[in-house]
Amino acid sequence: MVKRCVLVVCGCTIAVLVVVLVVFLVVVLCKNNTNNNFKDTFIHDCEEMTAEVHSTDCVGVWSAFEQAYVGRDPCQVPPEAYDPLLSVAPPLPKRNKMLFWSGIKEMAHQLAGDCYKTLETTMLGSVLDEKTWCGKKGSNETFTSGCPGWTECENNPVRSFWSRASAEFAAVACGDAAVLLDGSRDTPFSPTSIFGSIEVKNFTPDLMKSLTVVLVTKDNVGANCTDESLKNLQKELTPSIKYICTEKTESELLTCKKKQDKSCVPCW
Ligand SMILES: NC(=O)c1ccc[n+]([C@@H]2O[C@H](COP(=O)([O-])OP(=O)(O)OC[C@H]3O[C@@H](n4cnc5c(N)ncnc54)[C@H](O)[C@@H]3O)[C@@H](O)[C@H]2O)c1
Ligand SMILES: *[C@@H]1O[C@H](CO)[C@@H](O)[C@H](O)[C@H]1NC(C)=O
Ligand SMILES: *[C@@H]1O[C@H](CO)[C@@H](O)[C@H](O)[C@H]1NC(C)=O
Repeated sequence: MVKRCVLVVCGCTIAVLVVVLVVFLVVVLCKNNTNNNFKDTFIHDCEEMTAEVHSTDCVGVWSAFEQAYVGRDPCQVPPEAYDPLLSVAPPLPKRNKMLFWSGIKEMAHQLAGDCYKTLETTMLGSVLDEKTWCGKKGSNETFTSGCPGWTECENNPVRSFWSRASAEFAAVACGDAAVLLDGSRDTPFSPTSIFGSIEVKNFTPDLMKSLTVVLVTKDNVGANCTDESLKNLQKELTPSIKYICTEKTESELLTCKKKQDKSCVPCW
């Protein structure tokens, strides 16, 4: 009887220990995997796009990226922290093919295809789009969860990256550029958006000839080119940059895109 009890107790103890060990291993392995995956994916995706990188040294690009936020309070990473990153991997402009957007990201990318250059098709933009990352004080690791959200604090690693990269992308835009604005928003041109607060303010008048606003509506309902908010956009633009506005419905644009060939004749 006693022997049996001892056996059962021992068996239970061993079972519990095994479970604890397995859980511990899973947690440790998963944690390391996420971190290594982020770095490995970064370097892999960077290498796929080396045409864009002057140095082609993606390990070096990773180091420049990491130094912006590693070991820092994730609410104290200002846009300037990414200066070294932007200088080793600057966005390469495409004359007359620069496309900005505000509010309608998916539409912008459906229309861009291989014809237009958006921030998300630059090397850094493509590597970091839809990603989350941050560091922690006293740690040299990169975390991909538990990071502050977009509005939780202004100087968070993700928001500061997009602010800094957007400024650089806008500054090199040359020739005739376009911006897709969401005609179903109350203010298609929002002065607090990244397009309104950063990109427009960083255009280089000597490089940019014109800006075409494409106001995208759903079947003609929504804003038109007389919209008040667009007057603020015109005020922000240096007079030497020609301002053009055109209204297009989503279906018009998508139908045009389907027919578009390699010549990339604009759909607006
Ligand atoms: N790829 C990106 O994630 C990204 C992010 C910011 C800016 N940009 C650049 O700036 C322009 C678009 O920025 P925008 O601000 O004018 O357009 P927007 O208002 O559509 O915001 C763009 C992106 O910023 C993030 N964002 C903005 N406000 C947010 C909020 N309150 N909560 C959570 N996420 C939020 C989201 O990822 C959103 O897709 C583009 O021209 C692009 O070049 C790109
Ligand atoms: C963090 O620091 C430790 C100890 O110095 C080192 O072994 C490890 O490789 C570093 N990790 C990263 C991601 O740099
Ligand atoms: C444009 O929108 C304004 C405000 O909604 C409206 O009063 C006007 O009639 C519209 N103009 C045209 C040409 O549709």
